[in-house]
Amino acid sequence: MAQSLFITVEGIDGCGKSTQAGLIADALETAGRDVLRLREPGGIEISEQIRAILLDPENGEMGDVCELLLYEAARAQLVHQVIEPALAAGRTVVCDRFYDSTTAYQAFADGLDRDMVAQANELAVNGCRPDLTFVFDVPVEEAYRRRSGRGAEDRLELKGGAFQEKVAAGFRAIAAEEPARVKLIDAARSVEEVFADVSAELRAVGA
Ligand SMILES: Nc1ncnc2c1ncn2[C@@H]1O[C@H](COP(=O)(O)OP(=O)(O)O)[C@@H](O)[C@H]1O
Ligand SMILES: [Mg+2]
Repeated sequence: MAQSLFITVEGIDGCGKSTQAGLIADALETAGRDVLRLREPGGIEISEQIRAILLDPENGEMGDVCELLLYEAARAQLVHQVIEPALAAGRTVVCDRFYDSTTAYQAFADGLDRDMVAQANELAVNGCRPDLTFVFDVPVEEAYRRRSGRGAEDRLELKGGAFQEKVAAGFRAIAAEEPARVKLIDAARSVEEVFADVSAELRAVGA
């Protein structure tokens, strides 16, 4: 049976996560691996229901801790129901966002206590950690251009820019703290150039 492999992709919205996740999954499939492509919340019923609570505009009074725990609840179910069984069966899992997003958004950007967020992450994943994580680093304005195809002068987007900067800095800090697992990729280049760096990291872990 093939050795399981768990890969996650991270970074701010528009950095190229989904694009690179698809290329990674394609390449690993071509290499003969049985690949499960996931994005949180993973399409499972319980997690989708939790997601609906998170996204519901009626829930504007939701506090940061409630938000954190709902993300973790959705993640815990995804790990339990989908990721752990897949890895136990020797499959390869490529997941678009995972607990590093919670660290970047809820701790670094929203300002929740870092240790509390780490404990909540640990509770959710129960020791199930990615073997390899890519953080795609692009300037906030470039991510905005990629998302919208428009210029970056929109007032609300500029206001959101400071938040995105904190998230991006959080992801860079995570990569600096865990260099063995988390690879910081300069994603302000062509899809092909970015994927060349990704491929080199995949080869380095024998994938
Ligand atoms: N390296 C790149 N250079 C230019 N455009 C890119 C690059 N990677 C992705 N894109 C485009 O930018 C947009 C956002 O990419 P996507 O992969 O959806 O990002 P994310 O999943 O991080 O939000 C898409 O239209 C995608 O085709
Ligand atoms: Mg995406």
